[in-house]
Amino acid sequence: MTDLRGRSFLTLLDYTPEEILYLLDLADKLKADKKQGITHDLLKGKNIVLLFEKTSTRTRCAFEVAGYDEGANVTFLSNSQMGKKESIEDTALVLGSSYDGIEFRGYAQDTVKMLADKSGVPVWNGLTDDYHPTQVLADTMTIREHFGDIKGRKLVFAGDARNNMGNSLMIVSAKLGMHFTAFAPKELWSDDISCVEGADAVYTDIWVSMGEEDQMDERIRLLKPYQVNKELMDRTGNPDAIFLHCLPSFHDANTEISKAVQEKYGFAEMEVTDEVFRSPNSLVFDEAENRLHSIKAVMCATLGNEPNKILD
Ligand code: CP
Ligand code: NVA
Repeated sequence: MTDLRGRSFLTLLDYTPEEILYLLDLADKLKADKKQGITHDLLKGKNIVLLFEKTSTRTRCAFEVAGYDEGANVTFLSNSQMGKKESIEDTALVLGSSYDGIEFRGYAQDTVKMLADKSGVPVWNGLTDDYHPTQVLADTMTIREHFGDIKGRKLVFAGDARNNMGNSLMIVSAKLGMHFTAFAPKELWSDDISCVEGADAVYTDIWVSMGEEDQMDERIRLLKPYQVNKELMDRTGNPDAIFLHCLPSFHDANTEISKAVQEKYGFAEMEVTDEVFRSPNSLVFDEAENRLHSIKAVMCATLGNEPNKILD
């Protein structure tokens, strides 16, 4: 049986297909058990710190609830000294001496790597500029839940293909045998819409990621033709194609940023239209729920007390 205890989770490049499938199986089992009111105390007695440089709703809440469900004590830390008054290495040594596991969300992949190298405890990447591995675990969990399989499916990513989400989806697709296509401006990837034909799943992400807010005008100009709308979904030729998004999403005028965009450009729907976002083919809130179960799987597999005892 696969044994990931003691491992960090920094990018799926470090994981074999078998190890990723093991995490998905564990996530499915933890989800099914939670639905029946069963938890296992797999993280009982463990202290976990969630270190955030960037904002979050889903990732922070999923790590907290997953920890609580399995008996861990969780600290949320968003105003640490790290980087300003204390080096990443010193911070890693300090946190590693008090905590059994560290989640990090921030800018540089090198930071999460340094935390893993120096802390002596498992470190989990909750998003960097380069990768978002816990997100794509939830995404592939959702795809498998919906279709019953992953291998051979076609996933189209429309929009900002050179970022953390595009990178991570491409990696997980290669690992699990999905056909990955990016529909994006030529400088970012393929700009021929025929590449969406035959898609089983269409994925997009916001056009301006955290830390890139000053590039809003350029991104809107560049990415508007790659919006996921009904026309693009129709071009898949597959009425059963699902829509996926890591969230948060600008699909209506109900946020401060989309209101400002509407005032300036005359539209509020950016990477996806409200129609597609709210359509029956949209599984975006299933993905969001699956963040909890898949993050729990990662924590239990790498830090848990006998995680395999709950698998047959
Ligand atoms: N998808 C995702 O990571 O959401 P948050 O930014 O809210 O954590
Ligand atoms: N690319 C987005 C993902 C958010 C979950 C960002 O980095 O802001």
